[in-house]
Amino acid sequence: MHRSDQADPPPFTHGVASGDPTESSIVLWTAVPTEAWGDVEYTVGLDPDFATVVASGRIGPENHVGAVGQHEPEGPVRTVSIRVGGLAEHTVHHYRFQVDGVVSPVGQFATLPSADADIDHVRVGLATCARLASATFEPYADLARARPDLVVHLGDYIYEDGSAPHEPPAECRTDGDYRRRHAQYRREPALQELHRSAPWVAVWDDHDVADDSWRTGAADSDDGRHEWEQRRGAAEGAYFDWIPQEPSTTGPTPMDRRIRLGALADIVVLDARNAARDRPVRESGPALVSPTDDRRIISDEQWAWLEQCVDECPGWLVVCTQTQVSPLRLARLPNLRRRGRVEPLVNPGQWDGYPLEQERLARTLAPVAGRILLCSGDLHGRFHTGVRFADGRLAPEVTTPSIASTPFADAIRTKLPIPTTLLMRWLHRLNPQVSYMDLQSRGSTVLDITDESIRIAAIGPSGTRPRVWRLDRNDPEIRRAEPVPTAATGS
Ligand SMILES: [Fe+2]
Repeated sequence: MHRSDQADPPPFTHGVASGDPTESSIVLWTAVPTEAWGDVEYTVGLDPDFATVVASGRIGPENHVGAVGQHEPEGPVRTVSIRVGGLAEHTVHHYRFQVDGVVSPVGQFATLPSADADIDHVRVGLATCARLASATFEPYADLARARPDLVVHLGDYIYEDGSAPHEPPAECRTDGDYRRRHAQYRREPALQELHRSAPWVAVWDDHDVADDSWRTGAADSDDGRHEWEQRRGAAEGAYFDWIPQEPSTTGPTPMDRRIRLGALADIVVLDARNAARDRPVRESGPALVSPTDDRRIISDEQWAWLEQCVDECPGWLVVCTQTQVSPLRLARLPNLRRRGRVEPLVNPGQWDGYPLEQERLARTLAPVAGRILLCSGDLHGRFHTGVRFADGRLAPEVTTPSIASTPFADAIRTKLPIPTTLLMRWLHRLNPQVSYMDLQSRGSTVLDITDESIRIAAIGPSGTRPRVWRLDRNDPEIRRAEPVPTAATGS
């Protein structure tokens, strides 16, 4: 590449994206070189050739929400984002940008149906945990090929560590660090393709800020000190610059969101990581957690909002949160501080580290028993499991595997050389509530939501047959289903 090319890079090298849809509006996003000082034009149409344009305009420098920054090697870019309103509900739209005579790729999104609309099917894609230093982002492209109507990203969209080939080559701490990391991730074609093909809603997890974070600190950051506030603020600023969504207006924190899919389903995205979580009993690694430990994982305001979401949900309630809600016992050990008691060893970073909150969630969700599905990530494995209501019924949960991060079994093997089959047998024996687990695969998940059931497809590499399960209304078991020819490849 010539020096002059570096100084004047082409626009749109980070792709286009849409997100945070409502019945009548959408957030559109792109990035352009700082040298492209012309206004960025946007066009929204009902067809990919823009024969019918329904919205267009110019985004002047005063509307650029993104900061200007040096994002090597493509040269300095600024992110550009705008909420476009006045759109027809439940309608597929196409969009593109233009700056200095260059036209962007064409993206696609659908607006939401009105809250009481009679919708018969929605396809939701779930993704989580994409560490570029671990593997390729191809699973994002596999999910794009499944053509979801909406993508929910459950966190660890970036990883903050400094391992090669991460840019910058050091752990992110400042504004510039996080923005440069986001810019690097967004140069990946597979991630661009998933952003281009569907609107997203996303919630941050620990690595979007710092490993094993809680409200006031993280495993390797100061607890409650000025430095942490600055670091968290930098991560949050970069996140909202690069992810096509605004701070939420439908939930109590910037990341809590309710997406209403007509009368069919409500999707609730709950930030149980960075908004209100108390410091866990142990920052990393398994721990014994007293069943009466009263650490908080979400705030009173979030509980009140969740109760309201339960009350107002007419159909399926799909609650998406970063970490696994259901119990996952890793071993059973005598508790030396409480003689004679044998207690489960758990991952205290999951809801298991917050046992009274885990119980409270099951109580809160009891009114939607038979039409609830919990969705989570963070564990780098696929789990079908559940948390029990007080009356013994199950609130089923799907934990989606990592897009690129090290799979659960590989991470265990770095400490304990044990075959995956033995590890799975061990975990199954300790956890009868887990009906399925895959600790070795990367990938994503597609939910096909209809009135009677949610079909759950494990999306693996292109060309492989998706494994499919079914959750029927009023039956809490996630059961194997026969793949149909169109499964997870568009229907
Ligand atoms: Fe992760």
